[in-house]
Amino acid sequence: MSGRILDGNKIRDEILKDLQKEIEDLRKGGINPGLTAVLVGDNPASQIYVRSKVKTCESLGLFSEKIEWPASTTTEQLLDLVDKLNHRDEVDGILIQLPLPPQVDTKKVLEAVDPAKDVDGFHPVNIGYLVSGRPGLVPCTPAGVIEIIKRSGVEMKGARAVVVGRSDIVGKPTAMLLMHNHATITICHSRTRDLPAVAREGDILVAAMGKAAYVTGDFIKPGAVVIDVGQNVLKTEEEVRRVFRDPTEALQKLAAKGSVLVGDVQPEDVREKAGAYTPVPGGVGPLTITMLMVNTVQAARARRGMRAQALTQS
Ligand code: GUN
Repeated sequence: MSGRILDGNKIRDEILKDLQKEIEDLRKGGINPGLTAVLVGDNPASQIYVRSKVKTCESLGLFSEKIEWPASTTTEQLLDLVDKLNHRDEVDGILIQLPLPPQVDTKKVLEAVDPAKDVDGFHPVNIGYLVSGRPGLVPCTPAGVIEIIKRSGVEMKGARAVVVGRSDIVGKPTAMLLMHNHATITICHSRTRDLPAVAREGDILVAAMGKAAYVTGDFIKPGAVVIDVGQNVLKTEEEVRRVFRDPTEALQKLAAKGSVLVGDVQPEDVREKAGAYTPVPGGVGPLTITMLMVNTVQAARARRGMRAQALTQS
């Protein structure tokens, strides 16, 4: 038996269609939401992410701008830039792409962003809103996880939800959102005693620890809904062979493209044991930028005293 695939690309298209309509309505009222992405240094992955974020803005007709600064940029220069962006009225969302270079005080820079423009949802004020269940800007990947679960008709109320991974960006906020949706939550991590047994309690299992194929069949309750947040790039034949039981297809992909993307869940095990699961690629990934767009529109509305649309309230 094979679990149902939760198609992130399809859910992204549904959300963007609704969002497009909202953007058109706002534009009729003279509002054009705008996002500024700040990229410091020359991290290749960050360059790809930022390009993709700006391109998605353009495809929706949103105002967007990319500010690229060299790897030698200081904390003070970034604080000055953030202050200017905070005061520019056409900028509704400010995104500081992470990681910042090592000499920069990342926390200080993120805390300088106006919480009303913090479309990543990383500012302590927004984290506080999230924990206490008040409306605010929610981190994009966790918001995407919840949209996939909701739009796939999976019941969160009363379910046991286990989140593996305790990062500030994914694990902790995802657990909070699951709890606000009335799931009973467990957050576990690499130090958890008998991690597979704890994970196996989950009717919903979210894998977000950033380790390729770490969650194997013995972590998965038969029939569970498994959401895989991992994005791990395999670059060698040895790595591919370590992850896949039958590596034939993955090795072909490696030969053709030079790399293979895998999640935090072992792909063959999840197909066999889960009732439903997000694949990698094509699961949670497409939702992250989508929710950034949703947050940018929400920030534009909220700054003008308008209520959030239903999608962004959870
Ligand atoms: N780097 C990796 N993921 C993210 C993210 O979600 N937001 C930002 N700003 N930087 C990232």
